[in-house]
Amino acid sequence: MNTETNSEGWTPEAVCLREKIQAKTAIIGVIGLGYVGLPLAIVHANAGFHVIGVDYSGEKVDQLNAGKNYIPDVSDEDVKTLVDQHRFQASLDYGILHEADVICIAVPTPLTRHKDPDLSFIEGAAQKLRPHIRPGQLIVLESTTYPGTTEDVLLPIISDGEFVVGKDVFLAFSPERVDPGNATFNTANTPKLVGGVGAVATELATLFYSQAISQVVPVSSPRIAEMAKVFENTYRAVNIALVNEMAMLCDRMKLDVWEVLDAAGTKPFGIQIFYPGPGVGGHCIPLDPFYLAWKAKEYDMPTRFIDLAGQINQGMPYFVVDKLQAILNRTQKKPLQGSKILLLGIAYKRDTSDARESPALQVLSILAQRGANVAYHDPWVSSILSQDSGGNGVTIESIELSSEALQSMDAVVITTDHSTVDYGLVEKYSSVILDTRNIVKDLGGKNIFRL
Ligand SMILES: NC(=O)c1ccc[n+]([C@@H]2O[C@H](COP(=O)([O-])OP(=O)(O)OC[C@H]3O[C@@H](n4cnc5c(N)ncnc54)[C@H](O)[C@@H]3O)[C@@H](O)[C@H]2O)c1
Repeated sequence: MNTETNSEGWTPEAVCLREKIQAKTAIIGVIGLGYVGLPLAIVHANAGFHVIGVDYSGEKVDQLNAGKNYIPDVSDEDVKTLVDQHRFQASLDYGILHEADVICIAVPTPLTRHKDPDLSFIEGAAQKLRPHIRPGQLIVLESTTYPGTTEDVLLPIISDGEFVVGKDVFLAFSPERVDPGNATFNTANTPKLVGGVGAVATELATLFYSQAISQVVPVSSPRIAEMAKVFENTYRAVNIALVNEMAMLCDRMKLDVWEVLDAAGTKPFGIQIFYPGPGVGGHCIPLDPFYLAWKAKEYDMPTRFIDLAGQINQGMPYFVVDKLQAILNRTQKKPLQGSKILLLGIAYKRDTSDARESPALQVLSILAQRGANVAYHDPWVSSILSQDSGGNGVTIESIELSSEALQSMDAVVITTDHSTVDYGLVEKYSSVILDTRNIVKDLGGKNIFRL
């Protein structure tokens, strides 16, 4: 235990770490090399640090060490160059993190089957890291979670009665805000929030991220940073739900919701336009608000906006299938049962390969339950795991998008608005299209219906 501090309240370990970060001789460790962790690792390696990544997937570790990238927002070239120059390496072995001076944790934070927070990945990573912790390390949690996780869950595992957090080792929370597929904002130019356990940790973490990220915003505690991140995602979930409800109302009133939104969006103040769709997906919007709702129960506080937004957004895939059913009846005199339906896009958002929690998967499974024969095409997702009518797991592969394939379908539902799809071909050869993303608005075919 270290109690010696200088006049600023800094221990020798903290001073030494500050110097290493400033000189870029600090070694950076990243636990979890997924959509968040890999870009973070590459951005810091590009900034001049030596970076060690640890993941429990042997496949990912092998690919990276062979110089191969698997995250669309990361440059293939960068991974290859950094690996060739020994500035980035991946490993299955937590032991190498003993060498690291700064360790970022970017592991998943899913929900349990009962929609409660599942912190087992954070706890598992911290427990594996624990034997390799040494004085002078800064540990930063990046995973999205409810306020209190860093101090109430991570800190006890890290300190384990041996280290004093804030003197021997330093702990902070800094949420990742990356938006996969966003051509403008990425890990390096999205402002980064940092809340440390104590002023020294906040300063060290701010200094560390400032080496590679254009703007770092320190806040007074990890709890503020944790709450800010879940608030951002709750804000999106609630606003998407509002516009999804508006889409259902416009459908009932026979109004074009897209024209309404374009019109409302001309107001230069007081409104931010969100767009409707087949539901919400990805690892953030469908999950994170429930982390906050769960925590709020501890304070006898029901989070009604979160619950309502969840209900509306989870209802959208059913609305899409009901609408398709009505369109098939009206235009083709066909029932859903036995009809051949092509889903165009299975990823949860445009130009990404991420199909986690994708509403398209939900649309697919509702269609299958109602007896439709469903195929999908997605240029980014070559296969998915789904369930057959008997509840057995089946792999479905993306089919090729051809005039023959389109002609053989009774309807096409555009579930993801990927930019590389040939929508002209789709419009030309499809008997009917339900566009849930307003991507074919300019094609103007008579066979096109919109959400
Ligand atoms: N994907 C996004 O757009 C996004 C954006 C902002 C924040 N986040 C948050 O960031 C966190 C990570 O999300 P992600 O999308 O990068 O997840 P991911 O599934 O893409 O990556 C997580 C990685 O961690 C690895 N892993 C899991 N447990 C591990 C362990 N104990 N030790 C080592 N490796 C382990 C997995 O193999 C995987 O490679 C989550 O909390 C998420 O909510 C995600």
